[in-house]
Amino acid sequence: MSKTILVTGGTGYIGSHTCVELIQAGYEVVIVDNLYNSSKAVLKRIETITGVLPKFYQVDILDREGLEKVFEENHLDAVIHFAGYKAVGESVKIPLTYYQNNIAGSLNLYETMKKHHVYHLVFSSSATVYGDPASVPIRENFPLSTTNPYGTTKLYNEQILKDLAHSDENFSIVLLRYFNPIGAHKSGLIGEVPNGIPNNLLPYIAQVAIGKREYLSVFGNDYDTVDGTGVRDYIHVVDLAKGHLKALEYADKRKGIDAVNLGTGHGYSVLQVKDAFAKASGKEIAYKIVERRPGDIAECYADTSKAKEVLGWQAEYDIETMCQDSWRFQSQNPDGIND
Ligand code: NAD
Ligand code: UD1
Repeated sequence: MSKTILVTGGTGYIGSHTCVELIQAGYEVVIVDNLYNSSKAVLKRIETITGVLPKFYQVDILDREGLEKVFEENHLDAVIHFAGYKAVGESVKIPLTYYQNNIAGSLNLYETMKKHHVYHLVFSSSATVYGDPASVPIRENFPLSTTNPYGTTKLYNEQILKDLAHSDENFSIVLLRYFNPIGAHKSGLIGEVPNGIPNNLLPYIAQVAIGKREYLSVFGNDYDTVDGTGVRDYIHVVDLAKGHLKALEYADKRKGIDAVNLGTGHGYSVLQVKDAFAKASGKEIAYKIVERRPGDIAECYADTSKAKEVLGWQAEYDIETMCQDSWRFQSQNPDGIND
């Protein structure tokens, strides 16, 4: 019998790609999303790709009764928890809103899971929990710290889940620390739809390429890196999605809690990514070097050996494919995903 997975935040960027991979692998999918940062039209897109319309509840994870109903109406085997707010700059301005949504909402979910004896969980964490790492590549046992409220919500969730796993030996939890997800499904039907002016590099470059923004501001070229611009570990969102399926299998094999990096292990500079995107899109990307962005670090990329060892997973797509797929989605959906 196929397993049923609850995907919170399943109409969002990473969630929608993960739902596609889950359905194609034979899982039943139940999505919970309040549509704060995504559209119901994503469900149809998932159906077009997979032939299956996932079951959907427009429920806020802060709504305990709404969650209860989902757990009562479905026999759930595991939960993948994506739902949350993710804008670093915004989290500095409205920290309480971030703690409320990302911590209180998650507590509701974990309490409901425990009550209904659903013990397998994959949690969306982030490389942001490594703060400013002393060296690269970053291993899972590096010291953890954060520089902004968003990051702190990820670190607190990790701590809450460690305490939960230690208190109840039924739980099997995988904390996935994502590096920088980019790219889109090769169909061009689902992808990242930034809200307002993009904060992250790839959506910004894509909007310059399509003519929505005049030029890219490169935040500093005086870092100690290959060309002075910031270096990150960009990972294709489909590779990332597949990592979640491996994490579910890992959760089936053992109990307790474990944290695993999901990255490629390769770093690319801002200018290298700009050039790769220009090549993929055939568009020139105008840019200006500006001041460093406060809180940014020079280099961040993963040591991926633990993911290979415990999940049997490694990223497959290269930076060219990531840029081609981002561009296909951007050019086919200039106004996002709408009904
Ligand atoms: P996203 O905003 O596209 O998806 C999150 C989804 O959660 C959205 O559809 C939103 O409507 C929903 N949501 C938010 N609050 C909710 C609530 N209270 N109840 C129900 N639904 C709610 O973001 P994403 O890029 O897909 O990120 C998914 C997860 O991965 C997030 O937890 C994020 O912090 C984490 N993450 C993302 C990145 C990244 O660069 N995209 C990196 C590291 C970690
Ligand atoms: C940011 C978040 C991090 C989050 C991650 C993925 C900050 C400080 N950190 O990380 O917590 O986990 O996104 O969502 O926001 N850049 C430019 N111009 C731009 C945008 C970015 O030069 O317009 C540069 C940045 O300086 C950086 C690189 O591009 O060197 C990547 O930036 P971004 O996509 O925002 O990701 P992170 O900084 O890694």
